[in-house]
Amino acid sequence: MKNNIKDVFFEKEQAKHTKVKLDILREYVIPWMRKVVLNKYGSNSCCVIDTFAGAGIYSDGSEGSPIILINTAIKFIKQAEEKNFKINKILLTFIEKDKKNYLQLKKSIESVIGEKLKDGELSNCEKYPTLFIAVENGTHETFLKDLTDSVENIIPTVFFMDPFGFDLPFELNKKILSKYSNVELLINFMYEEINRFIAVESVQKKMGKLFGVKDMSFITKKLEKASSEERKQIIKGTYKDNLEKCGAKYTLDFDIRGERGQLKMSMIFVTKNSNGFDTMKEIFDKISNTNGLEYIPLTDIEEEQVRLEGFEEKIDKSKELSEYIYELEKGKTIQINNLINIVKEHPTIPSKYTKAALKKLNLEGKIEKVYRRTEVLVKRNTFPDDAYVKFI
Ligand SMILES: C[S@@+](CC[C@H](N)C(=O)[O-])C[C@H]1O[C@@H](n2cnc3c(N)ncnc32)[C@H](O)[C@@H]1O
Repeated sequence: MKNNIKDVFFEKEQAKHTKVKLDILREYVIPWMRKVVLNKYGSNSCCVIDTFAGAGIYSDGSEGSPIILINTAIKFIKQAEEKNFKINKILLTFIEKDKKNYLQLKKSIESVIGEKLKDGELSNCEKYPTLFIAVENGTHETFLKDLTDSVENIIPTVFFMDPFGFDLPFELNKKILSKYSNVELLINFMYEEINRFIAVESVQKKMGKLFGVKDMSFITKKLEKASSEERKQIIKGTYKDNLEKCGAKYTLDFDIRGERGQLKMSMIFVTKNSNGFDTMKEIFDKISNTNGLEYIPLTDIEEEQVRLEGFEEKIDKSKELSEYIYELEKGKTIQINNLINIVKEHPTIPSKYTKAALKKLNLEGKIEKVYRRTEVLVKRNTFPDDAYVKFI
């Protein structure tokens, strides 16, 4: 019999793959807030919308996405106060369909902020006057439809979409991306379930909604003779292509494997901004334990098994980047600032590896000189942002 309040209200224990998913969210939000809120040309405001919010806390006491977001926002507000940075408004919105989860969520949030929240309304926290929280017992679909139908311009916003399974209509992603410019989507693409059910007749309509297509047969046909690696490329590739078709300038995905080494979920990140893209590449790079954009809970799998599954070998990112840069810039001269901006658009490697890559190229004798406008050479093996590099 369930005699503990936790057993009645709380979600089950947090699995490892869930932790990784939430680490990505936690790691991304502060640098993102810093960039958008402290941007002197912006509105000093930002918003995070979590439309599959859950109950806030897992049965083992670990924090769910809403509590992580609130604590992160409070941490950011405190940092900004210490440094006298101006914040106008940080808006956090949580939507949860299940009544029991919603009530638990509301309670968890109230205990974190130490204040009562208003039902379905925006509450301004007394203790943190720049923090506004809305929590609603509603659905992802209704909330986003209302938002995109009624709001013309929005402040910089991250949409965190974390459904169970594959009930995630593409139409709403399309609406968000085609209507707003300052938006980023972090989608939990539940690969394991999607892969298992993609060709099952009874869910073709739902799958079509997920991918934003009327007829799934052009995808399922391609899958007929595909290997498991090819399936992954086709399924994720189609989804990302469709996002790009409706306005996503950059997409990135991070694979999270389950305890048996199976691909469990892929976090798909969507943005129109190269700085946002670069920041997320950095987070993925930090969280990854394979050096590819991938997380495998190595503690649970025998090393040999990992090799057998053919997972990526460790790759040296600065080496790979040095080859990429040299291929682009061979025989040319470029200011390092501009080179960094180019690397920001590299599909997977973050721009923080640029200088290490330049050092490698220097050692390999592929750089003729590094100098400033005045033709003064800079100190050996240094690469200041405002200097120019002449490649051989
Ligand atoms: C994977 S859980 C979310 C976990 C949460 N994001 C976290 O990290 O702690 C999905 C949640 O979405 C809720 N849900 C399912 N369908 C929904 C919908 N259409 N709109 C809003 N919430 C929904 C479920 O009740 C469940 O609590």
